[in-house]
Amino acid sequence: MKHKKVYINTIGCQMNVYDSGRMVKLLSPMNYVPVDSFYNADLIIVNTCTIREKAVQKAHSFIGRLSGLKKKRPGLIIAVAGCVAQQQGDLIMARFPYVDIVMGTRAVEHICAHIGALNADRSRKIVDIDLESIGFITGEAPEISGGISGVSRYVTIMRGCDNFCTYCVVPYVRGREESRTPEDIIKEITSYVKTGVCEVTLLGQNVNSYGKKEGLCSFPHLLERVAGISGLSRIRFVTSHPKDLSDDLINAFGRIDKLCNHIHLPVQSGSDRILSGMHRRYTRDDYMKKLDKLRNVRPDVAVTTDIIVGFPGETDDDFRQTLDLIDRAGFDTLFAFAYSDRPEAPASEYPEKVDDKTKSKRLGELFSCQKEITRKVYSRQTGKIFPVLVEGISKKEVHNLNNGKTVQITGRTPENRIVNFDVPGDSEHNVHNRHGGIPGDLVGKTLLVRITKACSNSLSGELLTGVSLGDGENEGEAHAA
Ligand code: 5AD
Ligand code: SF4
Repeated sequence: MKHKKVYINTIGCQMNVYDSGRMVKLLSPMNYVPVDSFYNADLIIVNTCTIREKAVQKAHSFIGRLSGLKKKRPGLIIAVAGCVAQQQGDLIMARFPYVDIVMGTRAVEHICAHIGALNADRSRKIVDIDLESIGFITGEAPEISGGISGVSRYVTIMRGCDNFCTYCVVPYVRGREESRTPEDIIKEITSYVKTGVCEVTLLGQNVNSYGKKEGLCSFPHLLERVAGISGLSRIRFVTSHPKDLSDDLINAFGRIDKLCNHIHLPVQSGSDRILSGMHRRYTRDDYMKKLDKLRNVRPDVAVTTDIIVGFPGETDDDFRQTLDLIDRAGFDTLFAFAYSDRPEAPASEYPEKVDDKTKSKRLGELFSCQKEITRKVYSRQTGKIFPVLVEGISKKEVHNLNNGKTVQITGRTPENRIVNFDVPGDSEHNVHNRHGGIPGDLVGKTLLVRITKACSNSLSGELLTGVSLGDGENEGEAHAA
């Protein structure tokens, strides 16, 4: 049977990346192969995000661009999936009548049934946005799932959120918290490891409450079980809610070597008044105490965070407290966002909105403050030796292949810092322009690299020749200087 082409435009977080991978896997028995361009695709899926207004605009503008294509090729199937689909349902059909399928966040598993129904009757319009919908992913692994590179994969361990932070749309578009069984998760990761994956990132809106509702094992216990998978060398997870960062989880950083030396711990604001308005249920002092505890267990742990500026009622003084917190916390990097009204979220009704000009001024100030902190944190790494998991050829090198005797490759330290370094372009390391420019034999290997220079968003280093940690385990302690 002739192959059909599916193009997926994934907007938003890792959950969507994972769901897109899942859809590719589900569609493959229907003979769909993923393609990189939508111009001659038979099926286009727009996997959307609604966390901020900008993401919604991005989805709308992409869907808008498909109108001409659909006129030219009426056989084309257009599906809108993800959070905007969940939130807007029929409204999508009303605004973009050429869309065939609108499928919400819990409809991923139904993709083939919907395509089948459309093939049987091309005049149909399908809207599937039931948040109570069952059919959580099973242990079967997505064939092409999202991940940072061929050696690293995302694995969704839970979906939904019960926290109801007042600015956030997630509980309304992703529904109540629900966890997958440890057996399913282990089965999926094991199948990745067999294909050469050595790092996984466990995904959930709030992984610390994993399994609580269902009475499954605790999150730290799940980490122990995942760490038991042989051939897997690194475990990461996102995202942790500071209020739920338990002593048990903190101590897991002391026990589990495979747990990477990094935590993403969104603080959102440094002002107690704003944190309370956000319904975050911790104070800045609680947050800082948890950081201290964590650093007692793993002194060199890298911490990253999310900040929202311009939450309703945020004064200059509140913002100063955020600047003060980031100064004290010593984050590696941070993601900062201008507060964006989400219609379902209660904060959209709060008075005292902060104007756009103030928000962008505060964002600018925050970024330049953090830039200096990142510079300090990164410069402290020079001279230290890290195990770097090789992901591929560095961006710079892609334009520069075969130019000399060395090839620059890129990888990550356990702290999630990107390191670029040269390896000889000789047969010993087999990094000549093979596999479309990817240094085939080194991808997935962990190499010891000494940091020589701190750049603004990455590190440069030199390979310690003759030392390879292979692609196996036991790399946990090797990063001390
Ligand atoms: N406006 C701005 N940023 C938001 N985030 C979530 N909701 C909003 C919103 N309404 C940010 C938070 C969260 C990250 C994923 O997105 O910082 O941690
Ligand atoms: Fe949104 Fe808060 Fe849940 Fe995170 S914890 S997804 S910010 S409601």
